[in-house]
Amino acid sequence: MNVLFMHTASSRLFSSVWVIALLSGCLGELRPALHINQTVLSISDNNSSAQLRQYTCGTTTTVYVSKGYQGRFASPNYPNLYSGGADCLWTLTTSTDAQFTLICDPLSISCTGDYLLFSPSGDTAFSDAVNPICGSGRLQVTSKANSIAIAFHSSYYTNGGGFSCVAQAQAPPTTSTLAPTPNCQCGIKGQNRVVGGQSAGVTEWPWQTLLADISPSGGGNQYCGATLISPNWVLTAAHCTHNRIAANIGVVVGQYDTKSLSSTSQVRRVSQIVQHPNFNRTTVNHDIALLKLDSPVSFTAAVRPVCLPNRFVNYNFDKQIGTVTGWGTTTFGGTASPNLLEVALPIISTENCRLNSIVGSKITENMFCTYAENKDACQGDSGGPLNWIDPQTGLGYIVGITSFGIGCAKLNTPGVYTKVTNYLSWIQQNTGTICSV
Ligand SMILES: *[C@@H]1O[C@H](CO)[C@@H](O)[C@H](O)[C@H]1NC(C)=O
Ligand SMILES: *[C@@H]1O[C@H](CO)[C@@H](O)[C@H](O)[C@H]1NC(C)=O
Ligand SMILES: *[C@@H]1O[C@H](CO)[C@@H](O)[C@H](O)[C@H]1NC(C)=O
Ligand SMILES: *[C@@H]1O[C@H](CO)[C@@H](O)[C@H](O)[C@H]1NC(C)=O
Repeated sequence: MNVLFMHTASSRLFSSVWVIALLSGCLGELRPALHINQTVLSISDNNSSAQLRQYTCGTTTTVYVSKGYQGRFASPNYPNLYSGGADCLWTLTTSTDAQFTLICDPLSISCTGDYLLFSPSGDTAFSDAVNPICGSGRLQVTSKANSIAIAFHSSYYTNGGGFSCVAQAQAPPTTSTLAPTPNCQCGIKGQNRVVGGQSAGVTEWPWQTLLADISPSGGGNQYCGATLISPNWVLTAAHCTHNRIAANIGVVVGQYDTKSLSSTSQVRRVSQIVQHPNFNRTTVNHDIALLKLDSPVSFTAAVRPVCLPNRFVNYNFDKQIGTVTGWGTTTFGGTASPNLLEVALPIISTENCRLNSIVGSKITENMFCTYAENKDACQGDSGGPLNWIDPQTGLGYIVGITSFGIGCAKLNTPGVYTKVTNYLSWIQQNTGTICSV
């Protein structure tokens, strides 16, 4: 049994799998209660496990998973049924500043002698394991430190079953100094499940906001994107507000295409522009602005706020998959797309992006990048979100604001984003709220 490592930048084969994995746990609502049985072990075979052991599987040595990556493993023969007599052991470790979240989904283990053991400390003797696990559903557990061990046993006369697991190595949740607004229902994506490059569904990114130029010469045309963060504030890029006046910006939420208003659309005027005071047009540093709406929007299935990433302030998202959404042109200088588009792109941290030969010298500590291989945010996507779905909760976070690129999807030219985690205090000071979980 192999443990596969998802490294989206170099393992193109698996990048779409990764995207699906991220999306599949995130269809908004969490799943119903599990049907996992933590049974007391009862071995129906009256034989020593050594005698019964038909084959071993798993990892022969402890496998190291870098922080921000995930290890994957599955039951023997997955997605086909495992057979009897299996004894598998997987041991994984990561850096000391990270821990594992193990998600097995789907998991179906017959309760007639088959079981999974999980040691939250990575103890291969499983002295700290909870009761053996069987049943079917979705299993999610977290390690105590930076190692985990998982054992699987199938009885000689099993009917079979199967499971597929990911072990995500990530920084432990930080306790933020910014208190989230209670009961803020943020980050709940719509139900349409689409993988990159496709048209997004009507309600899939319910915080996606359209900015229209409603100046006398602007004709009401879409010119930038933005992100709904509360009933009366949207977040965008400073270069989308620079040299504009509030009265000339229209804000549309719940909007699907740019040709006509959708039935779910809500339109507002802007009562105030809060552009970052240190925005520099030359360096494009601090490319962030807030727009206050003249009246609050109503939250519906098609209109919801994104979560702000205050749980992830120390997370650089390197090699995680972000999804950029917008109506921007699909080719440089081309015409804007009438339908909301989404593109899944691997994130490049500030540090790594600085190593890039084309944009590296322009990257400040307030920016990070995405890798572009014929896919990129483009003109008109500006100001819109780079979304990241927390695989633990399935909730959507805005981690970047589409800021600039050089051309579109030019080879090896990363797209550049404003790093939202650097501005959480600024957002809270100016809006009075932080919508997050
Ligand atoms: C124990 O296993 C052996 C083969 O491994 C088998 O011949 C024997 O019948 C088994 N005994 C019981 C009680 O299942
Ligand atoms: C299991 O095997 C042991 C001998 O190895 C025997 O004493 C015991 O009675 C057996 N139990 C059952 C339920 O067959
Ligand atoms: C879980 O255990 C209960 C008894 O404790 C049993 O009735 C039920 O069938 C078990 N569920 C599964 C999926 O085996
Ligand atoms: C913008 O940045 C450039 C380069 O660092 C600097 O020369 C210029 O003074 C800055 N402009 C403002 C308005 O701060």
